[in-house]
Amino acid sequence: MGLTVFVPRETVAGETRVAASPDTVKRLTGFGLEVVVERGAGLASRITDDDFAKAGATLGAAKDGGRADVVLKVRRPTAAELKSYKKGTAVLASMDPYGDDAAVAAMAGAGITAFSMEFMPRITRAQSMDVLSSQANLAGYQAVIDAAYEYDRALPMMMTAAGTVPAAKVFVMGAGVAGLQAIATARRLGAAVSATDVRPAAKEQVASLGAKFIAVEDDEFKAAETAGGYAKEMSKEYQAKQAALVADHISKQDIVVTTALIPGRPAPRLVSAEMVASMKPGSVIVDLAVERGGNVEGAKAGEVVVTGNDVRIVGHTNVAGRIAASASLLYAKNLFAFLETMIDKEAKTLAIKPDDELVKATMLTHEGKVVHAAFAGAAGGEPATAAPKKPAPKKPASRKSGGDA
Ligand code: NAI
Repeated sequence: MGLTVFVPRETVAGETRVAASPDTVKRLTGFGLEVVVERGAGLASRITDDDFAKAGATLGAAKDGGRADVVLKVRRPTAAELKSYKKGTAVLASMDPYGDDAAVAAMAGAGITAFSMEFMPRITRAQSMDVLSSQANLAGYQAVIDAAYEYDRALPMMMTAAGTVPAAKVFVMGAGVAGLQAIATARRLGAAVSATDVRPAAKEQVASLGAKFIAVEDDEFKAAETAGGYAKEMSKEYQAKQAALVADHISKQDIVVTTALIPGRPAPRLVSAEMVASMKPGSVIVDLAVERGGNVEGAKAGEVVVTGNDVRIVGHTNVAGRIAASASLLYAKNLFAFLETMIDKEAKTLAIKPDDELVKATMLTHEGKVVHAAFAGAAGGEPATAAPKKPAPKKPASRKSGGDA
């Protein structure tokens, strides 16, 4: 029998993205697979049921997950979803497993083969499967759009007969995938842009985008990049020097966008309450790290906080989901590219190669067991119903936020 791929409508509140696109459906059905897409799955990403049907999908309902060999998802399956899948189903999603051993155990208990797309190694072969990059890139863009919306002034310098509007000053903290796109976007909008990072490699990338690089370039800075290309957690001494350097700079900025993350650690605190208080009224800070603890003191996930000195601290969650129509197309392609490596096109079967480095890096659970080394502590075999419920996203106080905006 052929292979059935199921694409559900995401059930987590505020999740606007979908894990397939008409393009990826067309490619999968082109291999002779059956693709079932839940009705309405693409609507929040501007993909209609008709678009999916025209691409060759069968339209279905949530219960069709029960006959699928492969499920493509944005978020980790919920307890109810896990219950509906048959044993042996391969599920590809952003599993967000750190700190949630019980959820990993529940996936093992349900007997699914769970792949965590965030663990895709950053090697050339897997670049097209890198969900962190594809989504961070769009989040970096959207952060500047959100900042511009809150700013109430123009970003480019405008010389008109009625007078001159000065260019906005934008400072980007953390110049990885999201930060570099934020720099590029702010530059395109005509802002005067500066940026900082702790990795020396970022210096040249920032300069090549036409922004000014500001950093404490001591011996620790020279060794801050790990072999994997990520930042290390910096010492207290470095953080103090960095804070002293950026404090004066921040007080002169109109917009600050923070994107700094350290894998497996809470986000570094880069902007203190005093720095926020030093900014001019009407200034805007966007904290893209808010879901990982935040780079900015006073930022709140899912809220736009207005401080006493009238600075807006924007803490939207799921920022890629705020630009869902673009984000879904790229995310879908990431999943397709990985799934393609696991399909035997002759036999039209799933052929997971356990020794493939991509499989090794991403497979969390298989045949009832937790197989990923990082979660060796999470015991397998618990029933799917044991999965903890994720706390519902906080109701925004000052302003509607999150992916459903
Ligand atoms: P990330 O999302 O983990 O962190 C964002 C940025 O925050 C990084 O640039 C990091 O250095 C910076 N940061 C951390 N602590 C900081 C602090 N205290 N102060 C200021 N900045 C701080 O990183 P992301 O965006 O995922 O990228 C990390 C690297 O991986 C980049 O060099 C990127 O170019 C590279 N990369 C390589 C890929 C490949 O080879 N296939 C694919 C994607 C990214």
